Amino acid sequence: MILKVAKTTNINGTIRISGSKNSSLALICASLLSKEEVVLNNVPDIEDIKKIIEILRSIGSNIKYENNTLTIQNRKISYKVNSELVRQIRGSSYLIGALLARCKKVEISEPGGCNFCDRPIDLHLYAANLLGYVVKNTSPLIIKKGNVTSNTIIFPKKSVGATINTIFMASNIDGITTIINPSLEPEVLDVCKLLKKMSIEISIEENKILINGVKKLTKIISYPIVHEVIPDRIEAGSYLLLASSFPNSKIEIQNVNSSHLTNVLILLKSLGAKIIKTPDSIKLESPQTLKNTNLIISEYPYFPTDLQQILSSTLLFSQSKSVIEDRVFPKRLSHLNELKKLGAKIYLENEQIIIEPSILSSSIVEAKDLRCAMALVIAAAHAEGVTLIEKGEYLLRGYENPLSKMKRLGVNVDIIY
Ligand code: EPU
Repeated sequence: MILKVAKTTNINGTIRISGSKNSSLALICASLLSKEEVVLNNVPDIEDIKKIIEILRSIGSNIKYENNTLTIQNRKISYKVNSELVRQIRGSSYLIGALLARCKKVEISEPGGCNFCDRPIDLHLYAANLLGYVVKNTSPLIIKKGNVTSNTIIFPKKSVGATINTIFMASNIDGITTIINPSLEPEVLDVCKLLKKMSIEISIEENKILINGVKKLTKIISYPIVHEVIPDRIEAGSYLLLASSFPNSKIEIQNVNSSHLTNVLILLKSLGAKIIKTPDSIKLESPQTLKNTNLIISEYPYFPTDLQQILSSTLLFSQSKSVIEDRVFPKRLSHLNELKKLGAKIYLENEQIIIEPSILSSSIVEAKDLRCAMALVIAAAHAEGVTLIEKGEYLLRGYENPLSKMKRLGVNVDIIY
């Protein structure tokens, strides 16, 4: 898909934020822990969700998807996941933990995903080992029950995926498993909320998650198990950054949890934006001239890595040089060369991204991954002339209705084909 983006002058309007992509991917896999019907509301209609649904169907799930509501029934499930789709989405790695909890074994191709850099699963396997699973590092990967027992898992570094997979595995093992140094992203807490509805006792303390696992889910309070997916904080942040990049924008984003965006809002205010929060919406007014920043990106509650590429584009339009350092994915740099094609003064120095005020002009660029695609749309909307973005379909992997939402805000964007 090729996107055509023409110079845009004004960003104004109101849009509704969709449900979280990353929560939904994990929640859909979490449904495998139960044989009861699971109903997930506010699931975004995006490519990655369609793929995970297809993978679940291939192992026996019965799934209905209508108007952002997923109804899932997992009566008879196969532990073998050899779908080619597994290599296409990172979220498929949640099948490791979910199927171990459900079937006590799993056979799965190596999970893939947005290939912006190397994305190992060693921490997932480390936790599986410590819980008594035997990992055969073959292709496909085979993990089987050994002497399975609850344990204390100390992660040497925080990982969203490894934390969620460990919670899944521990949910079905009698006794208390403690995760030390877990990821505590809102998406991880959203998964815990669903599992609690399945009668799994989970408590969260400072830098610790305790899971009191049960072999059989017996105490489910009400059927079906219904859960509302949290709003997508990265989608929200993307549109706030888009609006901030243009002078005097006024936007309102609805269906958003501002407490998930605390450090994003602090950053936007430091750049000069005015922010007004209500319980489920955020209004932003951008300044005439955007200030610069010196920012470290790290795990939640820090500014999120998923907005790093998009922030890089926004900062091209600030008054002076900015420096950002992404400590979660330091090699998530696919946007740099593409932005340079538009004339951006952006480069890497000692693992820091240096961004200087730039005047852009149109070119042909290529989206290399999901967040790179959004970063390119923002930059292209500032460039003189008409920019073509190849592989624009990356946008559809993670943003629901991105073109209609951007058009509603005033971005001159269209699909050529
Ligand atoms: N890591 C390891 N070993 C592992 C797992 C991770 O070294 O076994 C490293 C990674 O290489 C990275 C860091 O730990 O340096 C954090 O990775 P994490 O495991 O937290 O990332 P993930 O679970 O693979 C999820 C999101 C990403 C998001 C990250 C960080 C999903 C499907 N993906 O990935 O979302 O960037 O957490 O918040 O939930 C996106 O939406 O654009 C996206 C890439």
